Amino acid sequence: MTALQRVFVLTGAGISAESGLGTFRDRGGIWSRFDPMQLATPEAFARDPELVHEFYNLRRSGVVAASPNAAHTALARLENGLHERGATLFLCTQNVDDLHERAGSRAVTHMHGEILKARCLACDAVMPWQDDLLVATPCPACGETGSMRPDIVWFGEMPKHLDAIDAALRAADLFVAIGTSGAVYPAAGYVALARALGIPTCELNLEPSDNTTHFDEAHYGPASVVVPQWVEGRSRNQGAS
Ligand code: APR
Repeated sequence: MTALQRVFVLTGAGISAESGLGTFRDRGGIWSRFDPMQLATPEAFARDPELVHEFYNLRRSGVVAASPNAAHTALARLENGLHERGATLFLCTQNVDDLHERAGSRAVTHMHGEILKARCLACDAVMPWQDDLLVATPCPACGETGSMRPDIVWFGEMPKHLDAIDAALRAADLFVAIGTSGAVYPAAGYVALARALGIPTCELNLEPSDNTTHFDEAHYGPASVVVPQWVEGRSRNQGAS
């Protein structure tokens, strides 16, 4: 097995499930209990900002109270092992939590934004944010009220960092998807692009995703079990992974 040089990892809500953060499309998932069109679009925010703030305030406090699990820490170990031998791991997450960072991952690309950041619609300032956001919350930068929103990407908005993600994916020598249903584009299309480019693909998930036929390799089970096992297996086969 040749030594990996540029690993591309895509994570979704499933990697944070065992940290107590909800997934979206599983049985009992967030979108089976709430209507995303009422809570996760710019139009919903314009229509009822207090309701949207209330929904994300609950999710933000859940993130603050959560801890990374063994899957997050295994990915941080993989990144360190690759770095030690001059190789790289591009970690692209659909998740808005900070559990990858708190587990020690050094470079995390949040394509759907970060719930622990807030953005002012009046002055465009973006700042770390751990507390509740309300309509009356003044922007610390410009003082405007009614203009603060979570710095996350809602349905109908453009995901972030797409050029960097595309460049990293095209340069990768392995594509790994962890804890994602493969239901939301553009992330759901990355495995097909990897295959079209001849890049080996691997899925680590609780159960086969919508994209399961695109993967050369797959291991199913809870991320906190499957991801550390996979990382240790790669490390054994390749020295420092
Ligand atoms: N370990 C591994 N995988 C798990 C676990 C677990 N403990 N629990 C659930 N999963 C898997 C599910 O089988 C499913 O395939 O994680 C996946 C979660 O899928 P979704 O709930 O659709 O989450 P995700 O793919 O991240 O959604 C993508 O949709 O609503 C938007 O912006 C939101 O980023 C999100 C995007």
